[in-house]
Formats: sequence, C-alpha cells, structure tokens
Amino acid sequence: MKFNVKTFNPKTHQTGCIIAGVYLNDHKASQLSTTAEKINDASNGLILEILKSGDQQGKLGQTLVLHKVPGIKADRVILVGCGGKDKLETAGYFKVVQAAFSALKQSESKDAACSLAEIEVANRDLDWRIQHAVRTAGEVFYTFDQLKSGKKIKQSVTSITMTVGTKAEVTKGSAATKRGEAIINGMQLSRDLANLPGNYCTPSYIADQGKGLAKKFKSINATVLSEAQMEKLGMGSLLSVSRGSAEPAKLLVLKYEGDKKSANQKPYVLVGKGVTFDTGGISLKSGGGMDEMKYDMCGAASVIGTIAAVAEMGLPINLNVIVPTVENMPGSKATKPGDIVTSMSGQTIEVLNTDAEGRLILCDALTYAERFKPQAVIDVATLTGACVVALGKVATGLISNNDGLVSDLLAAGETTHDRAWQMPLFDEYQPLLDSNFADIANIGGRDGGMITAGCFLSRFTKKYNWAHLDIAGTAWHSGKNKGATGRPVSMLVQYLMDRC
Ligand code: BES
Ligand code: MN
Ligand code: ZN
Repeated sequence: MKFNVKTFNPKTHQTGCIIAGVYLNDHKASQLSTTAEKINDASNGLILEILKSGDQQGKLGQTLVLHKVPGIKADRVILVGCGGKDKLETAGYFKVVQAAFSALKQSESKDAACSLAEIEVANRDLDWRIQHAVRTAGEVFYTFDQLKSGKKIKQSVTSITMTVGTKAEVTKGSAATKRGEAIINGMQLSRDLANLPGNYCTPSYIADQGKGLAKKFKSINATVLSEAQMEKLGMGSLLSVSRGSAEPAKLLVLKYEGDKKSANQKPYVLVGKGVTFDTGGISLKSGGGMDEMKYDMCGAASVIGTIAAVAEMGLPINLNVIVPTVENMPGSKATKPGDIVTSMSGQTIEVLNTDAEGRLILCDALTYAERFKPQAVIDVATLTGACVVALGKVATGLISNNDGLVSDLLAAGETTHDRAWQMPLFDEYQPLLDSNFADIANIGGRDGGMITAGCFLSRFTKKYNWAHLDIAGTAWHSGKNKGATGRPVSMLVQYLMDRC
C-alpha cells in the first residue's frame, strides 16, 4: 500500500473512491464535512438528499457506498458516519477510519482519496489524525497468505491519498504519513512473525529474523547467544524451559543506536517473551484451542516490530531489545514439576508448574538487561490467562515498580488507542510465591494470577525502573478473525517517540 498527501478538489480529482465524513442530524450544525459539502455542491445536492432518505444517518462508523455521483470524477464515494459534530473523540475516530477502510477494502477501487483527516477530533491535531488514519489503513489492509499454496488473497486497493486543505498541511501531513508507515511496517513484521506457525517460527527463526533486521538497518546491531553461552551466564531458569524440546533456545539481542551524540546515553530496553509454542510442558495444556499457543511469542514479535519502526523513523534515542526464545515441550528431558532451577540472578526457583514458563525465561533476560544500565526496562509477554479473565481483550495489563513509567505508558496507550490498565504490585501479594524448598515458587495459585506473575518478575527487576505488559488478551484475535493484532507496537513506538 502506497500513501501520499495532497490538497485536492473533489470535483476534478480522478480516483477509484473518495472517502468523506457526514454527521448525525442533531439540528445544530450541517451534517456535511468540508469534502462532503463540496461533493454535495458538485452533484446538485445529492448528498443531502441521501441523508434525508435516511440510508445514511451519520451514525458513528455507518458506511454507504455511492456509485457514479454526478459532477465528480471519482468512480465511487464512501460516506462514513462520524456521529454528532463536536462530539468525536479518539475512540470514535478509530471507529470511523476503520469502518471507512473496511468498506473500501470490499470495493473494487484501485486507489482512493481519504478526506477524514479534516474531521475534528477532541484534543487531536492534524498530525495525529493523519498518522493514525494511515496506521489504521495498514491494519485493515493487512493480509497473511504466505502459506496458502493456491490463489493469494486479492487486494485491489494499492494506494491511498490523504487529502488536506493547504500546501503547508501537505508538508506536515507527509511527515505524519511517514511515521504512520513506519508503524505499519513494524506492526506488519510483528503480525507476520506471530501468525507464522510453530513449525516455521522456531527460536532459531526468530534469531535469524533479528539478524535480518540488522542487515536491513545500519543503525541496528544483532547478537544471538547460544545455549552454551547462556549456560556460561548462568541462565538456568531460561534453559530449563527448552530442555524438553528438540529446538535449541536462543537469546536475541538487538541494539539500536539513534543517539550517537551522547553515545553513553542510557538506553531504553524492551524484553519480549518468545515462546514459539507453549504446550505447557509436563504440566500439559488441554487440547482445545491449543493451536493459539503459537502466539506465545507475540511479546517477542512486538518488541522486534517496535525496534524496526524506531529504526525506520530514525528516532534520536538508544534502544535495546532482548528476546529470550524457546519452545515449551514435554520431551523426556523436560523439566518436571518440583524441579528446582537456579536463575542468572542466583535466586533458586521451584518449578511447581511447567506451564508458567514465560516468567522463567523472562527473569533471566531481565537480569541480563542490568548490564545495559537502562533508563527503563519494559517487558512484553503473553503471560497469563488470568490477565484475559481480568481485562478481556480490550486492555493490556500493566504492572510496574515506577509511577512515572506507568503514566508515560498509559498516556502512549491513550494517544494510540492501544490501551493498557494498571494492576497493583502490593507487597501483600508477594508471600503467595513462597516455596518450601527454593527461594521462590514459579506460581502463586489461582487468585490474582496476573499480579503474582508480575510479583515473580519484580524479584528480578529491583535495579532499574521496570514495567510489565501482559498482552495475553490483546496480542491476537480468536475465532473467525483469528490473527495477530500487532499490539502493542503502536503504544511502544509512541512511548519512545514521546521520549524524544
Ligand atoms: N502462555 C500462557 C498464557 C496464556 C494462556 C496466554 C492463554 C493467552 C491465553 C502461559 O505460559 C501460561 O500457560 N500461563 C499459565 C500460568 C499458570 C500455570 C500459573 C496460565 O495462565 O494458566
Ligand atoms: Mn504456559
Ligand atoms: Zn506461555
């Protein structure tokens, strides 16, 4: 998909489709957006007639496709409802652009002119409206058909022009479009990695993808640690997870240097859970829907997508990404419930449930992160079913030892509508992890499952500002629309943009 920004005249602009907003009839203001009004004038009042007919009432996200509108050069017009004028907020804007691009996707248009950046949104400027419309187009038009042998999913739309009012807005809008495209590319990389099944996407495959990024971007450097090297570092917890698998564990480390001026500027560090398939190990999961455990590397995919987007934008910061990646299998050498392993931090862990493996690989990666003297460390993981019970598939779970980091991440989530919600890290939860035989147990029982997972990680993050994002509910869709969402790439990129 190609994007560009132009001023345009709907009367003379040749395109497969114009997307224009219309509002609810609340007897206060005109129902027409600027562009809808111009089309209405060119067509001798056709748009207002249609609104009068009631076929398009301007309800938030309602769409109507018109063909052969007289007086204009476009083949089609998509009228999209924006709700009450003056009432549109961030969430509503996403609903509007999503609906419009979904209708466009179903049409046979080859290209389109989207005028939705002119729609006023509470507290959001043109920059934001363009960046997020572009990003949403990328989300809507994403397809994954690499592994279909026959006919590939056909996509007729190949380019979208974001229209603006003035030449000055073209310059601003082009920069916003570039940012939107970088985020699309990061999300796409993340979604492709995530959708790829476990027999393709192994720990070694993820490591190779990291090396590929370093080839693509001069600003990124990749290192991959082998099991032998991790053994030397004392990563007994991480290695205990892959013991039952034929696939060797890897630790991928990516370094992006965007702030060369102050080369010793402390880096931000992102850590992503990369379990390429989670069978549960000896604490084997039950069969239903187990295929979705190919998504247990979505944390890894999201931090890799994030560093790719940051490198494409060339953000002036330093960013390191650490990806511990393993396959959790019940082989004959697998770790057994009751086994005690020693983490890189020196703390011993009683593995009471081999299905609580994410924390076992993250804890060693989090200890490894200390060597970078980080500004802040954020781990991203499909960590607990309990997070899905608590927050559903809407908000990402957030746990942190630093209030400033919490508000920065929540704010980035609001800006991008890729939202998180904080859970407590109260000391009173910590004893749930007591073990009779080791320093700590890897599970804390049924109650507060997302929180005790966070408590476990907090034992390994005392030396820096740290936040944990549990994306178990938000990283992928189940059911008919099964597929990775690319969350929380846009939140993380925004968080890093906000630091510049
Ligand atoms: N990868 C799972 C968490 C998960 C489950 C994410 C379902 C998305 C959907 C994780 O490794 C896991 O199995 N967690 C256990 C922890 C429990 C044994 C303490 C869980 O949530 O059941
Ligand atoms: Mn598990
Ligand atoms: Zn898991």
